[in-house]
Amino acid sequence: MLFKSLASLAIMAGALSQSVSAAFNFTSPAFRNITAVYWGQNAVYAVNKTTPLQYDLYTTCSNPSVDVVIISFVTSFYGKAGVPILNLSDQCGTYFVYNGSTNANNYTDILSCPQIGTQITQCQALGKKIFLSLGGATYTSAWTAAQAQDRANTIWAMFGPPSGNYPYRPFGSAIIDGYDLDFEHSTNSANTAAFASKLRTKFALMKSRSFYLTASPQCPSPDAVLNQALTTVSFDAVFIQFYNNACQITTWAASKAQNVNTSFNLGMWQTWAKTSSFNKNIKLFIGILATSLPAPTTGYLAKANVQKVVSASMSTSLYPNFGGVSFWDSSCANLNTPMIPGIRDVLTGKLVIAAKRDVESTSVAERDILTPVGGASTLPAGDFIEVKVADEVAKMIKNKRRMHHQHHRRNF
Ligand SMILES: *[C@@H]1O[C@H](CO)[C@@H](O)[C@H](O)[C@H]1NC(C)=O
Ligand SMILES: *[C@@H]1O[C@H](CO)[C@@H](O)[C@H](O)[C@H]1NC(C)=O
Ligand SMILES: *[C@@H]1O[C@H](CO)[C@@H](O)[C@H](O)[C@H]1NC(C)=O
Ligand SMILES: *[C@@H]1O[C@H](CO)[C@@H](O)[C@H](O)[C@H]1NC(C)=O
Ligand SMILES: *[C@@H]1O[C@H](CO)[C@@H](O)[C@H](O)[C@H]1NC(C)=O
Ligand SMILES: *[C@@H]1O[C@H](CO)[C@@H](O)[C@H](O)[C@H]1NC(C)=O
Ligand SMILES: *[C@@H]1O[C@H](CO)[C@@H](O)[C@H](O)[C@H]1NC(C)=O
Repeated sequence: MLFKSLASLAIMAGALSQSVSAAFNFTSPAFRNITAVYWGQNAVYAVNKTTPLQYDLYTTCSNPSVDVVIISFVTSFYGKAGVPILNLSDQCGTYFVYNGSTNANNYTDILSCPQIGTQITQCQALGKKIFLSLGGATYTSAWTAAQAQDRANTIWAMFGPPSGNYPYRPFGSAIIDGYDLDFEHSTNSANTAAFASKLRTKFALMKSRSFYLTASPQCPSPDAVLNQALTTVSFDAVFIQFYNNACQITTWAASKAQNVNTSFNLGMWQTWAKTSSFNKNIKLFIGILATSLPAPTTGYLAKANVQKVVSASMSTSLYPNFGGVSFWDSSCANLNTPMIPGIRDVLTGKLVIAAKRDVESTSVAERDILTPVGGASTLPAGDFIEVKVADEVAKMIKNKRRMHHQHHRRNF
């Protein structure tokens, strides 16, 4: 009760304080400052039942530092009544009655969440994009090509533009902007391309809107499950999971070549994007944990160090496909509220993370980042500083950096 009324107060406050922000373009290569957050699984609650930290969708999307909310997950493609199952942890507790049943209490296990549908539309009015993630770590069922195509039809009927008499639409008439494939088991590899391809053809059915196809691969590259789909179908972005793996973000170091799976490997993904990905302009997101959680989740890196990694990954010449940062998940971000805005400030250039030498003769407020990424052995602590700067000073630092790089090039 308390939670519910707080949430609706937050909706009102959000509606009053937010004007419609300029729409960002998810696929434009110019947008390298995008943030996405997964919402629905309430990851903190899953490990700590005394912490109900998942707020409603509107509260999540109206955060000015968030562009995309990825609703997670459709956990199965075949539930009761032959319809996919959506699991949103504590966010929606009612179910559809079986279509055509004379028994009003003959419930399916298909969530009926018109209030979330309303909030999807409200989020979209703010210029935010709402995606839906399919799969998740627990999804393991294999499918034939025919089943995969049939499921694409069903997902579109449930979450795409409303058409005809389809009886089970969890979000009512709201229309999902994008579909994210988060299949993590090898059994899901075959025919995932058939599913993705079929879903993509649906996008042309409603020309007045843009729809997106994305995936959430693990960081070892190429992804063991999704690569077949990613190399044969056009995906707009990958939210790469730089956690729970040897290549997790904690293993980043300024000096390391990013060409192996055993440490941070955005460079491998960049090469993959330009050589193997079907869409050579696919956006690469650095996917991170928004807070540390108890085992088995590993790979949390504190904000100041993520800022350092993100800053280094924004280099246009090294990572032209870089698109931004994605966060697992919304409840984690609520436990660690400085994380998303702190990263966003780096993405948008409000905050510059620079090498000390680049700012030595520049008069700005500066703060040392004291803990090096990956432990003391990888990077001298004082190497990077965080500077809160005005636009013109940020430009000076950028120019100095450029001169440094040119200088190095001349020397070697
Ligand atoms: C977004 O950017 C893409 C790629 O540059 C472009 O094709 C598309 O027209 C843009 N969309 C809008 C709505 O501006
Ligand atoms: C993100 O980048 C685009 C392209 O450079 C820019 O137009 C937009 O204003 C930026 N967004 C923010 C929030 O700074
Ligand atoms: C669980 O959450 C409660 C309330 O926020 C907190 O006091 C407690 O320390 C948390 N437990 C763990 C294991 O994180
Ligand atoms: C959603 O998934 C969680 C985690 O797998 C599970 O514990 C829970 O029972 C599921 N909820 C519903 C309504 O199916
Ligand atoms: C749902 O029921 C209606 C009428 O009972 C029927 O016309 C419709 O075809 C059914 N839809 C599906 C998908 O079964
Ligand atoms: C009750 O619902 C199930 C699906 O959940 C369906 O198979 C069954 O036919 C329904 N029974 C009646 C009496 O409508
Ligand atoms: C990295 O991991 C992927 C996925 O497991 C594997 O296919 C690939 O061969 C590995 N690459 C290297 C260089 O070890």
